[in-house]
Parts: sequence; structure tokens; C-alpha cells
Amino acid sequence: MADSKQAILTLGEQTIPLTVQSGTLGADVIDVSPLVKAGLLTYDPGFMSTAACESAITFINGDKGILLYRGYPIEQLATGSDFLEVCYLLLNGELPDAAQYAEFRDAVVHHTLVHEQIRHFFNGFRRDAHPMAIMVGVVGALSAFYHDKLDIKDPEQREISALRLIAKMPTIAAMCYKYSVGQPFMPPQNHMSYAENFLHMMFATPCEKTQPDPVLVRALDRIFTLHADHEQNASTSTVRMAGSTGANPFACIASGIAALWGPAHGGANEAVLNMLHNIGDVSRIPEYIARAKDPNDNFRLMGFGHRVYKNYDPRAKVMRETCHEVLERVGVHDDPFFNIALELERIALEDPYFIDKKLYPNIDFYSGITLSAIGIPSNMFTVIFALARTVGWVTHWNEMIGNPYRLNRPRQLYVGATQREFVARDKRENVNVN
Ligand code: SDX
Repeated sequence: MADSKQAILTLGEQTIPLTVQSGTLGADVIDVSPLVKAGLLTYDPGFMSTAACESAITFINGDKGILLYRGYPIEQLATGSDFLEVCYLLLNGELPDAAQYAEFRDAVVHHTLVHEQIRHFFNGFRRDAHPMAIMVGVVGALSAFYHDKLDIKDPEQREISALRLIAKMPTIAAMCYKYSVGQPFMPPQNHMSYAENFLHMMFATPCEKTQPDPVLVRALDRIFTLHADHEQNASTSTVRMAGSTGANPFACIASGIAALWGPAHGGANEAVLNMLHNIGDVSRIPEYIARAKDPNDNFRLMGFGHRVYKNYDPRAKVMRETCHEVLERVGVHDDPFFNIALELERIALEDPYFIDKKLYPNIDFYSGITLSAIGIPSNMFTVIFALARTVGWVTHWNEMIGNPYRLNRPRQLYVGATQREFVARDKRENVNVN
């Protein structure tokens, strides 16, 4: 932690000195931990103004639309690096040299297989089960395969857990898809790149060899990089919360997958495509813009707005370019949903409601169209997000466990009944439950 300053909280006769700390970038923080000794708590529903931890992994400047992974701008990593190198950077804090990259890739590649028993977990699901439901269950089940000998205090065992998760998520994700379409699971191919191998496991069959299109492979690899980490978002905070109890890391990642699924978070990409389908034609955009602005209508423009970005999400810019590149490659020059998305963005960014509330497209706005053009069904979009975000989750878990930490246990503002005496059932009168 960098230097610190002082703040004084004055409450009636009470004055409580609080330390103000500065990081290397971003907002200063007021250390409110002394308040509990003064019989006080802070109150911050949704954690709008709360820094829950100290971290050196990812930095976001929401007002300027800046996103750094270990100090490197996302735009430079998305175009100049590849996802496995970004995994190494997030996990280790530095970009690898050629030998370190080769060693890391080899380690990941040799953990891509899942235990044969894992196959049986799929059979409990109906074929039309949402792949995210399967993902939560199967990743959680991995904790049963790596538990007894797992000492999370041992950095080497934490590293092997991280490698296993990064390596196995594409295999499990592709198995979720294959199960849903009734096709045989395809084993990973060690000679292929990370994104190429995933597309192979998704779309190849034992009946014929396929060679994933290199442009689509590159686009998907970039999509993985864009989704790799994002500071203390809801699912990462969930992983940290679960990890703070000392829980098995595979179970912690399963809790992150569950949290990511919601449409306000990682489920937004699937919700964007559903919204574009419902809009159906650019002529109906004004109707949906009006609904998004109507305080009495709980419809929201999916893929718009962000808790932290009050400027254009830098990932959305790269995603829009990637979307265009993929549509060109697959020969779709006039995709109706891309056209609706472009027009929706243009109209919204000129509308005072969105301007005043600083609502800009976020990463989910274009990712669905891009994944759809690659041939990935919409119910797999958040699975792809979870696959990519696993490196971020496991890096935050590792950072927390590898440093002094405490059990996460927030408090509350209690507004319930004051203490009262129990009355036996035969003595109770006019019980009214509101
Ligand atoms: C991700 O946290 C992360 O980093 C997440 C993520 C990551 O990489 O991990 O970036 C990934 O989750 C991106 C966000 C994907 N979600 C969506 O696209 C769903 C649509 N967006 C909204 O649900 C909303 O913008 C949130 C949930 C993303 C953010 O909501 P906040 O910060 O709680 O803000 P808010 O809901 O209080 O909105 C502020 C105002 C409100 O109006 P008022 O109550 O002040 O009058 O803006 C309005 C909202 O009604 N508003 C919208 C809107 N988003 C906010 N109005 C219309 N359409 C929207 N999309």
C-alpha cells in the first residue's frame, strides 16, 4: 500500500480518526475498520462505494474507460498478445519470455483432460438443460476429484489448481454443448492452440476432421482475453467470499459461475441477443428505447450501462471491431442483428437519458452477435464468458489466499422486530402476516 493520510469522522461528541490510503492508481480509500469498536458500521448497499480488498491484478478507470491487466492496456493485449499469455500475465504479474510461455502452455495442455468419471455427471441432466446449469454442477463436482490432498496454503498446490481450472474449462464447456446436441464428446488436441482446441471440441465429430477457421480462432482468442478479468465484479467478489472461508478452489469457482449467470452480469450477452431478436427490426428501436427510459417499465437495454464504466467500455470497442471482422469472414455483410445493434447504439448515444446517466455499450453488447456468427448458440454465451473469466477468478483467489486475509463477513442495518417474548400457539390471537 502507498502512502496514507488522515480523515476525522465527527459524530456528536465523538471524533474518530480514520486513515486514508492511496494505491498506485485510482481512488483513495478510507479505512473504516475502527468504526466497529466505536459501535458504528458503514452502510453501502450494492457496495457502490466500497473497496473490499487490496489487489494488484486489474485496474479500471470507469470515467476514462481504461482497463489494465497488470498495468497493460486491454486494447494492446487484445491485439498484440494471446489468451494463454494473458493467463500467464494475470497469474504471475509479468509477461512471459519465450521459454516461460512454452513451459506454461505445456503445463496447461497436459491438464486439459477431465477424469473419465466426470462424463457420468452429464447424464443426470436433461438434454435441454441450460449449459450454465451443467457448468455449475460439473465444475463444482471437480472439487470431489481434487480435495483430499489439497492444501491451499501451499503455493505450488494453488498453482496446480489454477492450471487445472484454466485447462479443463474449455473441455467441460465443450462437453456441455455436445451433451445438449446429443453428439459424442471430443477429446482435446494437444497440438492445437487454446481457442482452436475449444472450437475443435465444440464442432468436430468423430466422423470427420475439421480445421477451425484461423480468423475465427483469433477472434475467439481475443474474446477470451477481453473477458479474462475485471477487478472486483460480482462473480469475482463471490469467488473471494467463498475463498475466504478456506473452501475448495473448484467449489469457489463454481460459486463464481453461478453468480456470473445473472442477466445483470455475465448473462447479459445472451440477454442482448434475445433483446435484438425481440426488437426484430430497426423501425422498432424507438419503442424499446422508450421502454428503457420508462421508470415504470423494468425493461433495460441489455448490454448497456455499467457499475464502473461511466464512459465507453474499452472492451466493447475491441468487441465491435472483432464482430465486424467475424461477420466479414463468415460472409454476412448485412447481419440484421448487427445492424439493429449499430443503430441502437447510435440512437442511444445521442439520447439525453443515456448521456445523462452515462450509459454506454458494455462488453456484452457486441459479444453475442460475434459468438453467434462463429456458430455458438446463445445459451452457450455465458459459458464462454465463464471459461474466459476462470483465469481472473482463480488469480483473485490465489492473490487473497497468498496474502494475509480474513473471513469475509459483512454486517447489516437491522430493521426487523425488536426483542419480544414467545407466546404458545394456543394463546396467539389475530396473527397477521403482511
Ligand atoms: C458485466 O462489474 C463488472 O465489471 C461486470 C462486467 C465484468 O466484466 O465482470 O463488466 C460484466 O456484467 C457487464 C454488465 C452487463 N449487464 C447488462 O448489460 C445489463 C443491463 N445493464 C444494467 O442492468 C445496469 O447498467 C447494470 C446492472 C450493469 C449496472 O447497474 P447499476 O450500476 O446498479 O446502475 P443502476 O442500475 O443504478 O442504473 C443507474 C441508472 C438507473 O436509473 P435511476 O434509477 O437512477 O433513474 O441508469 C438506469 C437505471 O434505471 N439504467 C438503465 C440501464 N442501466 C442502468 N436504463 C436503461 N437501460 C440500461 N441498460
